[in-house]
Amino acid sequence: MPEIFGNKSGLSPSSLKALERIYRRRVPNDRIVTHELVRSLVDASNETKRQVGALVHRSGEVDCVIVGHATGLLLPDIGRLRAAEGRFRALRLIHTHLFGEPLTRDDLVDLTRLRLDLVAAIALTPEGEPRSLTWAYNVPSREDHVLPYEIVAPQPYGKEQPHFGELIASLETEFGQLRRTRLVRAKDGRAILVHVADKRRPSALNRAKAELSELLSLAQTAGVEVADSVIQLRDKPDPRWVVGRGKLDEIVMRAIDLDAETLVFDCELSPSQASSIAKQTDLKVIDRTQLILDIFAQRAESRDGKLQVELAQLKYALPRLQQKDDSLSRLTGGIGGRGPGETTLEIGRRRARERVHRLEKELESLGAQRRERRKRRRSGHLPVVALVGYTNAGKSTLLNALTDAGVVAEDRLFATLDPRARRLALPSGQMAVLTDTVGLIRRMPKDLFAAFRATFEEAADADLILEVIDAADPEYEEHVTTTEEVLGELELATKPRLRIFNKADRLSDEQRAAFGNETGSVLVSALDPKSLDPLLAEIVHRVPSSKEDTDLAELA
Ligand code: GTP
Repeated sequence: MPEIFGNKSGLSPSSLKALERIYRRRVPNDRIVTHELVRSLVDASNETKRQVGALVHRSGEVDCVIVGHATGLLLPDIGRLRAAEGRFRALRLIHTHLFGEPLTRDDLVDLTRLRLDLVAAIALTPEGEPRSLTWAYNVPSREDHVLPYEIVAPQPYGKEQPHFGELIASLETEFGQLRRTRLVRAKDGRAILVHVADKRRPSALNRAKAELSELLSLAQTAGVEVADSVIQLRDKPDPRWVVGRGKLDEIVMRAIDLDAETLVFDCELSPSQASSIAKQTDLKVIDRTQLILDIFAQRAESRDGKLQVELAQLKYALPRLQQKDDSLSRLTGGIGGRGPGETTLEIGRRRARERVHRLEKELESLGAQRRERRKRRRSGHLPVVALVGYTNAGKSTLLNALTDAGVVAEDRLFATLDPRARRLALPSGQMAVLTDTVGLIRRMPKDLFAAFRATFEEAADADLILEVIDAADPEYEEHVTTTEEVLGELELATKPRLRIFNKADRLSDEQRAAFGNETGSVLVSALDPKSLDPLLAEIVHRVPSSKEDTDLAELA
């Protein structure tokens, strides 16, 4: 017997018969629906006093018959289809609406989320006769279209219908073309950024925007094309979906419309949140931590750096491997799923644990080697100066400008991931060691922070810390706070420190004057070698003089 889906409780045998009869109907490709199918749906609906629907395949056959309740029906799980495939599901939903109501929000969510060919509602009169037919279909985003679907106004029942097959074929062609142009543009997938903020915070929206712009830089650094971003202000994040349920539906529609396949949440998602959202939306879901890990994975260069990132990734993935769904396997490949070494993240729990153990051991031995190197350096009594600061503040550029070291400086976050030590010739004729450290970022993932302690071991030995601040960044005060916190955690807060306000060339005269007046700091532009003279003089002033020179070739 053909299966009836949905709310079957309390149905009489005759109602069930009426529902089963619907499976006998066929709909030719040139029509949305036939009179016969409408009749069968309406009869079953009158019998049951519930909405009744049929999922009709393009072949003309009825794939599923569903019975709902008076004002809605729940589609059975018809399997998932990646949103970005540019084709529809080859199924259309035809169903009754008992009270003459237009297409509901749920209808439209099903249409876009499940990528149905079309959703049609037959509005009934109070006497239970078909009065009108309303339908909607997915449309590609065009300038004149803000919504990912188009609703055709209710047509009196019996009025001529468009040619269904031709309509769907032309829509699929349009989607296909759009997808091809987007594929060319998107290097590493398209994503929607989602930020949820506490609406009770003072100036909540502005702060949310600033934080979102940092997430945008992170995403771009990771090679993701950001299709859109969404902010929701709430009392507190939803325990299951983070955003509200309605908002999540909206986001899904937006993702489908924009061909985005990833949602990047600007917060840390619990394993169960990540998996619920991935299941509900059928999109890849990653959080800020994963994004940062991904950037680190792409950028780590040294053996040590690569192992550190892999360790942090495994530690992040382990609790998530318990979740019995495919949200993790989806992370393999592409953004959020890159491993720095040979290992991919598609790995079982036991192997992951073993690998964590091995990595920790190997890192320990690399750490010992590093300590040895630093001891040798110390025995040479060369003063060590360490650059520390928020990501993109200009540390590498300064290191280059001061030492001509040729370290990469890029306008991307976290260009620096490995400890670097270079020779610095001071104007006094004295030599010093100048080291770069990884850029800091607020809410640095905990494991990652631990993983990158290595680069700060250099700073721990420093005689002087140069705290580089991008003075042209409107958020610079926040960055200073983050830097202070991190230095505190690393027990470096009491080290002699010199503040460097960088990017002076981007400041107005008034700003330059204000920064110039700050005591205990120097104002420079790493791009203007002349502006570095006062900085060099300050360094000379603040570092102990070295007793002998050492072969610096060893230091790199
Ligand atoms: P991380 O590696 O992320 O920690 O960054 P970083 O602090 O090492 O920054 P980096 O030196 O890579 O510089 C970031 C961007 O700022 C690059 O595009 C630099 O060219 C630019 N930059 C650095 N210093 C200055 C400056 O004084 N003025 C201007 N206009 N741009 C600068």
